[in-house]
Amino acid sequence: MKNIGVIGAGTMGSGIAQVAATSGCQVKLFDTNKEALSKSKEALEKVLLRLIDKGRITPEEKTRIQANITYVNTLKDLSDSQLTIEAIVEDLSVKKTVFAELETFVSQDCIIASNTSSLSIASIASSLKDPSRCIGIHFFNPAPLMKLVEVIPAIQTSNSVLEETVKTIADWGKTVAVAKDTPGFIVNRVARPFYGEALRIYEEGIADFATIDWSMKTIGDFRMGPFELMDFIGNDINYAVTESVFSAFYYDPRYKPAFTQKRFAEAGFLGRKSGKGYYDYSENATKPSPIEDHNLGREIVDRIVIMLINEAADALFLNIASAEDIDNAMVKGVNYPKGLLELADEIGIDRCVFKMDELYDEYHEDRYRCSPLLRKMNTENHTFY
Ligand code: NAI
Repeated sequence: MKNIGVIGAGTMGSGIAQVAATSGCQVKLFDTNKEALSKSKEALEKVLLRLIDKGRITPEEKTRIQANITYVNTLKDLSDSQLTIEAIVEDLSVKKTVFAELETFVSQDCIIASNTSSLSIASIASSLKDPSRCIGIHFFNPAPLMKLVEVIPAIQTSNSVLEETVKTIADWGKTVAVAKDTPGFIVNRVARPFYGEALRIYEEGIADFATIDWSMKTIGDFRMGPFELMDFIGNDINYAVTESVFSAFYYDPRYKPAFTQKRFAEAGFLGRKSGKGYYDYSENATKPSPIEDHNLGREIVDRIVIMLINEAADALFLNIASAEDIDNAMVKGVNYPKGLLELADEIGIDRCVFKMDELYDEYHEDRYRCSPLLRKMNTENHTFY
């Protein structure tokens, strides 16, 4: 596919345009806001200069990538697109209006995709006369750096549209994970306990932020601790995602947001971007020291990891994606040290079931219910791989 239209020249749209242009596609990047277009162009100039400095691209490649992107200010300019990817505000009615208008300009076989993180693809597709051409293509931020892209067919999407989309995104050098059109898709669903269980451990007074982060990094081998990561993402954003997943799952207690994070967001302690979150980012701030107790650390890691494994197993149980795609998604999308289902095999399914039942016995909360798949696999002596 050569001609790509990108709608919305913000953080994600600009990154997606860069990815497609780098792969040799002709990209038209559209935004209603002219300033957004000029900012996007300036940002790309800076990014590409940095890539030259690092020796990743040559000055000729920079010129070629830039020449592959045309900045346009009418939707009609996207009329020769073979694939359009929308990355505008996360608002269903705005997206539906744009999709319906776009369909009047593009050819019959143009694929119309959305980069939404939280809206259902089926609902977006329903705005089109031909919903079978609609699909979710969910990039991660920053799009040029993050390897993973979730591809989400809606129940209306045709098989040929799914196949063509997967091929195109793989040609752009990305790892594709195909996910069912359910809240959070793969990553934003399976990753919830990384934050939620860490917050719960803190709320129970078992350990402080620094100790939980130290445990997950030093003992669990995760690249960032949950609190560092929430500060990096922004507590407002991370809280909003959790709340949206929680309500989309009809208030399943497994996804219940934590008051701690709500209060941090309300107080404006958003993390790095506001200078203060779980940690203080001001110039002379001293970083709090963790309690480097290996027994406590192991307990913390075991509890968070078992909840992640349980979530991954349940996603497989409900056919959200294949085991390979679930594992790939967490490794390539959020840099987990290992696939969660692979880890479950290593730990032993019997041990996973035992740990979940132990948590359930302690709390009697539905949040700690063991996935029926783990239990069945244990009874039948199966492993994931
Ligand atoms: P952003 O706020 O940086 O950019 C949105 C852009 O869309 C703005 O430049 C705005 O002028 C433009 N826009 C708004 N309405 C428009 C319209 N009707 N027609 C054309 N342009 C319009 O937003 P961001 O962060 O890039 O997010 C865009 C989409 O990507 C959202 O659906 C979001 O959920 C999704 N997403 C965001 C991620 C992130 O980490 N920021 C990650 C993955 C998905």
